[in-house]
Amino acid sequence: MKVNQAEFVISAVGPNQYPEGALPEIALAGRSNVGKSSLINRMIGRKNLARTSSKPGKTQQLNYYRINSDLFFVDLPGYGYAQVSKTERQKWGKFIEQYLLEREHLKLVLHVIDLRHPPTKDDQAMYDWLRHNGVPCCVVVTKADKIPKGKWQQHMKIVRETLEMDKADPMVLFSSELGVGKDELWQMIEQRIGY
Ligand code: GTP
Ligand code: MG
Repeated sequence: MKVNQAEFVISAVGPNQYPEGALPEIALAGRSNVGKSSLINRMIGRKNLARTSSKPGKTQQLNYYRINSDLFFVDLPGYGYAQVSKTERQKWGKFIEQYLLEREHLKLVLHVIDLRHPPTKDDQAMYDWLRHNGVPCCVVVTKADKIPKGKWQQHMKIVRETLEMDKADPMVLFSSELGVGKDELWQMIEQRIGY
């Protein structure tokens, strides 16, 4: 897909703020600070449209970005950030859970995982939950630039094994720094939205 126009639409804190219309939505899920917002920026070729931060826990709402008049990227709050209070965490959890289960325009969840380390307990729980609930998802292992190319396959294998992925479950290797995986991920998205 050629991105001609990308714009921030809304930080939604509840379902009544989700955009109207019928554009397909591609949501980004993953641990705080794993690189969800950076991935969006790389996909649309913009440095800083999606707010990124070296401090985790930055994204706390559902941030909608419209791409051309083709789709929305929905940047979800990250999970697993210890310094957020338990009540806050539960509130987010419910909110996101509801979005993932009930939003009919949601076509695909990009589950973003750090390629450098084996998936955490939180990552495993999230992936299990997505699969259990039949939410279509694609694992995107990012920050590939942080480890040598010769070790990419080995790290991907560890991610696959830890998440107990099936052979057919999709996974894309990515680097927001280098742009690795961008074309492959666009193809995956286009296929899902019937572009
Ligand atoms: P929250 O909004 O807090 O959940 O974080 P996030 O998942 O949106 O992460 P964000 O995109 O803000 O990135 C967090 C940090 O990781 C930033 O310092 C980014 O520059 C860095 N980062 C993200 N992706 C990559 C990548 O592919 N390679 C490298 N080297 N750094 C990355
Ligand atoms: Mg973010």
